[in-house]
Amino acid sequence: MTAAKLVIGNWKLNGEVARVRAFAQRAARDWPGCEAALCVPHTMLAAAQAAFGATPLRWGAQDCSAEDEGAFTGEVSARMIREFGARYVLVGHSERRTALGETDGQIVAKVQRALAAGLTPIVCIGEKAEERDGEQTAMVLRRQLLQLVRALQGGLASVVVAYEPVWAIGSGDAATPGMIDHTLGFIADTLAFHGGVSAGAVRILYGGSVHPRNAGAILSRKSVAGVLVGGASLVPDDFIEICKAAARCSAPRHEIHIQQGSVSAQ
Ligand code: 13P
Repeated sequence: MTAAKLVIGNWKLNGEVARVRAFAQRAARDWPGCEAALCVPHTMLAAAQAAFGATPLRWGAQDCSAEDEGAFTGEVSARMIREFGARYVLVGHSERRTALGETDGQIVAKVQRALAAGLTPIVCIGEKAEERDGEQTAMVLRRQLLQLVRALQGGLASVVVAYEPVWAIGSGDAATPGMIDHTLGFIADTLAFHGGVSAGAVRILYGGSVHPRNAGAILSRKSVAGVLVGGASLVPDDFIEICKAAARCSAPRHEIHIQQGSVSAQ
């Protein structure tokens, strides 16, 4: 597994150009040295390119079309997103699966478009509360992954997977580090078994109520390649604090010790 932990912010339907510029100013002044990107609304991609281009902060979009071009009113293609210098695109976020009925098949098509355009797709998967309570988590995650694995095969290592339990998103209660370890281990095993990728070849992130106060404990887990952050990515101080935790936990070959809830690297 790569030692550098990745921090991705998802602004959802929030923000404005002024906030993009505020983040850029903050990143230029005080950057902890981790790999990080903000996935902004499409309308802010031009501002992100202009403002983040001179900083270590990267940028991305929150969705792309499953189509490349044509009569698809309102759609935005991966190629169009790439034109703004974006590096990442979120695909299959649970809010889109639920509110817009996105299917695993559409999500695979979007991932393929993103890869073809030179973007790194971040594929979001996760179970709902009732699925967790019905002990269906493994079944749901396997179903969400299998079409993707079969369609991509060799391209799988270019994808980032984000495990976001739907019950943790926006709830203030993240999954515990133990639960995260267990589930990310299952996802890695599924990718290895069905996709033939070696353990650690695919970066797997955790998302769902990641905040400055829990980021260190989550990012210190070996299984966690990074975090996908919603609400806390809208506040520069909070986002930078999470990036600092990622930078600490990325320290190459340093042992991470958790003592009384705090994390230190030695
Ligand atoms: P929160 O961090 O606000 O829980 O949102 C998580 C999320 O959905 C990121 O994609």
